[in-house]
Amino acid sequence: MRVGLLTGGGDCPGLNAVIRAVVRKGEFQYGDDLVGFLDGWKGVLERQTMPLDVEACRGILPKGGTMLGTSRTNPYKLEGGAQQALDNLRAERIDSLIAIGGDDTLGVANKLAKEGLVCVGVPKTIDNDLEGTEVTFGFHTAVQIASDAIDRLHTTAESHDRVMVVEVMGRHAGWIATEAGIAGGAAFILIPEEPFDIEDVCARLKSRHDRGRYASIVVVAEGAVPKEGTMEVQSGETDAFGHVRLGGIGNRVAASIGEKTGFETRVTILGHIQRGGTPTAFDRILATRFGIAAIDAVHDGATGQMVALQAGQIVRIPLSEAVGSSKTVDPELYHGVAEVFFG
Ligand code: F6P
Repeated sequence: MRVGLLTGGGDCPGLNAVIRAVVRKGEFQYGDDLVGFLDGWKGVLERQTMPLDVEACRGILPKGGTMLGTSRTNPYKLEGGAQQALDNLRAERIDSLIAIGGDDTLGVANKLAKEGLVCVGVPKTIDNDLEGTEVTFGFHTAVQIASDAIDRLHTTAESHDRVMVVEVMGRHAGWIATEAGIAGGAAFILIPEEPFDIEDVCARLKSRHDRGRYASIVVVAEGAVPKEGTMEVQSGETDAFGHVRLGGIGNRVAASIGEKTGFETRVTILGHIQRGGTPTAFDRILATRFGIAAIDAVHDGATGQMVALQAGQIVRIPLSEAVGSSKTVDPELYHGVAEVFFG
């Protein structure tokens, strides 16, 4: 069988581990011919490919990023793009395509599957906001990086009696903020799911400092939003999937905390550091399990399906169940656990 692979959307630690697993089992056990499309759907539209075999994948397991490259190209935003993608895959004699991506990349795969493409999805995103899977690979690594950063910020915050605002990724869902905040002992966590009132944040920080604590960590997801009318926020440019480029809420929150409390406040925006570098062992293992399951799904003819983790087992679910909405933070985790430590 001739199997195509692509990685789309923001990169994520563990992508190479998926590619390696697909290639290893595809070549050694199924005798497949494997081909990588470069830079996500862009490589399909432009017929940019590379041959993939076990030799080409040597040494990639611990490496972050993706050996295939990635982009946020959306064939449905280009005139005739979807038909071009289908024609090119046919011209490349692809029997089945494995698309590794988040909501956007898998959303395209889902639509193309309805137009006849034989494909299987693998869920990826550091944001952990994809429906249908308990966790996506890359998330564990991002949480580890963010909580390591928070540990470092604690010591300098304590030396200077400062409030440290840490902005982490999380466009639609505050999974990284919530879990890194719990692991790092945050005094407040702001997430997109729970619009915040800056007065409440400041009141809780003041009460904490009144109890004799002069240093606090406030973790802010980049998509966190104030309650309507309580604070001004900026909006930026949008990408091919219509997402606004975020970043900046941490600065706004830090400035307000400084003004309203009089506490010296600093801000750290972790940005793409959270997405770079070597995956944790957990992410390597999950990515490897997903890769094996994806090539098995291809050979079982499970088209239009995505591999997912449910109750510790790898299962298959329809792509349509995974895309189109975000898996948001469990309110019990936020209110029942994280909030106990606020203020
Ligand atoms: O991968 C998802 C994500 O990490 C979002 O949290 C973030 O908003 C976005 O990627 C930023 O990606 P880029 O700067 O690469 O477009």
